[in-house]
Order: sequence, then structure tokens, then C-alpha cells
Amino acid sequence: MVVARWAAALLVACGGAHAGGGGGRSELAGRAEPGGVSQGLRVRDRDVGVPGNIVGNQTADVAVDQDLPRELFTDYADFCFKTFGDRVKHWFTFNEPRMVALLGYDGGSIPPQRCTKCAAGGNSATEPYIVAHNFLLSHAAAVARYRNKYQAAQKGKVGIVLDFNWYEALTNSTEVQAAAQRARDFHVGWFVDPLINGHYPQTMQDIVKERLPKFTPEQAKLVKGSADYIGINQYTASYIKGQKLLQQKPTSYSADWQVQYALERNGKPIGPQANSNWLYIVPTGMHGCVNCLKQKYGNPTVFITENGMDQPGNLTREQVQFYKGYLAELKKAIDDGANVAGYFAWSLLDNFEWQSGYTSKFGIVYVNFSTPKLERHPKASAYWFRDMLQKH
Ligand SMILES: *[C@@H]1O[C@H](CO)[C@@H](O)[C@H](O)[C@H]1NC(C)=O
Ligand SMILES: *[C@@H]1O[C@H](CO)[C@@H](O)[C@H](O)[C@H]1NC(C)=O
Ligand SMILES: *[C@@H]1O[C@H](CO)[C@@H](O)[C@H](O)[C@H]1NC(C)=O
Ligand SMILES: *[C@@H]1O[C@H](CO)[C@@H](O)[C@H](O)[C@H]1NC(C)=O
Repeated sequence: MVVARWAAALLVACGGAHAGGGGGRSELAGRAEPGGVSQGLRVRDRDVGVPGNIVGNQTADVAVDQDLPRELFTDYADFCFKTFGDRVKHWFTFNEPRMVALLGYDGGSIPPQRCTKCAAGGNSATEPYIVAHNFLLSHAAAVARYRNKYQAAQKGKVGIVLDFNWYEALTNSTEVQAAAQRARDFHVGWFVDPLINGHYPQTMQDIVKERLPKFTPEQAKLVKGSADYIGINQYTASYIKGQKLLQQKPTSYSADWQVQYALERNGKPIGPQANSNWLYIVPTGMHGCVNCLKQKYGNPTVFITENGMDQPGNLTREQVQFYKGYLAELKKAIDDGANVAGYFAWSLLDNFEWQSGYTSKFGIVYVNFSTPKLERHPKASAYWFRDMLQKH
């Protein structure tokens, strides 16, 4: 299955509808599901804004108890459920909220570009946690709205999309194993633990202490069980090597992990690099992520919502190897009992890849952006998918 990134279209759709143009635009969602091939719809992406600040104000205070952004988001989601819910049966509230908290409020490289030393203000030790907290509460509020108002008639389901890099312990020492688990807790447990258990991982509570927001009992109840499934964007992996629990300065979300990364073991690289410098090709990481969710969280329903690699140009061979390797590891996890309900390759078409623009090509179909009609040329990986799907 392949899905297009819909947030931008939806923003237009919802904005247009408030101005009286919603009917026409809702055809967009209808076309997103030819023959049920593509049926995921993400309510909101990182380009639409975040629930940490008052919408549209980069320097506004980031506070835990801000009901307004949560209410606005819930109304926005409500509009999408109402408008597209007759056709869309699989919803995702947010795409990679961790990246917004990390890059927008810890490192400060993406909007709203806040961090401890950023011009816009910010506090890397507290705001990423507040932002993630508000994401979880906004997600839970939107899901409650769907369940109370739409689910009986529309019979759809709602989840959330999380990025998850695999963290492999470099050695078998107890200390290193604990460090790798800590990295998984700070990366994905930050969201999955509240969604499944109603609280943050114990490791995070122990390290972050009073900087970590708390759920009231009612909020914990709302958040716990609020995902019908968990979407995982899986691309890459790294080794974690041992380190004593040092408090790194200055304090920040990323320093709180208290881990060290490594990209080789006994002189052997963890995997070849794709075009993006963060993307190491490590198929076993797919098995690690899916198996970890099964083991640690009671085998929830999981969708692989993104998986793929980028290239600088039209070099097709590596992509086929990539998909073969990752899908074989995914199948191994499914054969071992993991509850995986769907898979989305990233991406059908070459796309505008955040800060890398058009230089990073994730498509299984090459798009020639120099031609007025944006000519499309299926790559070898597109034909590989076609043949593989026909056989199964
Ligand atoms: C943005 O937030 C800051 C800080 O809270 C406030 O002083 C300012 O008036 C706000 N700007 C707008 C346009 O609301
Ligand atoms: C860890 O232990 C397992 C089981 O004994 C072994 O197969 C594996 O190679 C060890 N890993 C490392 C990195 O030493
Ligand atoms: C990409 O490479 C494949 C295989 O070499 C070739 O058939 C195809 O024409 C190429 N597409 C473009 C747009 O260059
Ligand atoms: C893209 O289109 C331009 C203009 O037609 C052409 O010159 C160029 O060779 C094309 N690039 C690829 C990779 O097909």
C-alpha cells in the first residue's frame, strides 16, 4: 500500500470549507482510495502548526495548560471526520510529533525554532516535554470526539504515527542493554507508554523528574487506550554504547537520554548510508522495532506507515535491495506473532523532502521536476513492488 502526504491538501480542504468550498474539495479524499489501495489519512502534519504554542505565535509561551490549541485541533479533526469519514476508515491524528518536539523545541531547526539559546526564545529542558504532552492530550481529545460522535456510524479507526529508529545495544553488558532500552523509552516510549499504559516510561520519570508534565487521573484515562493502532515510520538504526548516567549540560530532552551512539561494531559499519545522512540501511532494525512493540506493549496493532530510502538520482538497484531486506525482516516479525495490519512504502512519488527539498528522492516513481507536466517514470522498485504484490 502506498499513501500520499495529505496534510497540505487537508489544510486547503478544511480552510476552503470554512469559506464555503468544502464539498468540492472532499473529492480529494475520495480519489485517495482507489480500490482501497491507499486508505490512511493523517489529520495534521508538522507543517500545520503544533499544539505547544498558541497557534501562529512563534514567541508565545509554551504552557502545559493550554486548552485553546487542543480545542482548535479537536474541532479541526471533527471537521475532517465529518467531511471525509464516509470514505476514510483509517485515520492518523499526528505525524511524527516527536520530531516537532525535538527539532522545533530542543534543537530549534524547524518552526517554531525555539530552544534554550534560540532567538525566538524557548527552553530545551522543558518545552519538548510540554509539547509532547499537548500532542498526546490533543490526540486523545480528537479520538474521543471520533468515538463519541462518528465511530458508530462511520465504523473507522484512529491511530497516531510515530517515528521509531531502532537502537541496538553495542554489547551484551547489562549497562549497555539498559542504555539501549533507555534510548527506546525516550524515543518511542515517550508516546507509546502513555497511549498503552496511561503514564510516561519509568526511566523518563526517574531522569526528567519535575520537568516531565504529569497527567491528571482523568487525562491518563483519556490518553490510555486512545490509539486503535500505532503507526510506525521506520527507516534507520544505530548502536548504543555504554555510558554512566551522567547529567549532560546544558540540560535538554536529547541530553536527558544519557546515551552514546555508535555506527560501527568491531570496525564494521552498521549499514550503508542512503542519500540522507541520517539514513543508515539496517533491515534488522525493522524487526527490532516491531518485535519491541510486541514484547513490551502487549502486541498492539501496528501499521508501518513509512519505510523507504532516498537516492540522489535515478539509481534503482539499492531501493529494490532495501525493500527486499526490510520486508523480509518485517515478515519474520509477523511470523513470530507481531500484529502488523498494514505497510506503506515511502514514497510513491519523489516529493519535497523538508529541508532537503527536491534533492532527496524517496519515490519508487521518479518525477522529473524539470518538465512542465512533472513526468513520472517508474523505477525498478515500482516494478518490483508490482511483481511482488501480484505473487502474494
Ligand atoms: C505572542 O506571544 C507573546 C508572548 O506571550 C505576546 O507578548 C504577544 O503579544 C503575542 N503576539 C500575538 C500576535 O498574539
Ligand atoms: C550477545 O549474546 C548473544 C547470545 O549469547 C550472542 O549471540 C551475541 O553475539 C552477543 N552479542 C554481542 C554483541 O556480543
Ligand atoms: C531510470 O533507470 C531505469 C533503469 O536503468 C531506466 O529504465 C529508466 O528509463 C530511468 N528513468 C529515468 C527517468 O531516467
Ligand atoms: C528531465 O526532463 C528534461 C527536460 O525534458 C530532460 O532534459 C532531462 O533529461 C530529464 N531528466 C531525466 C533524468 O529524465
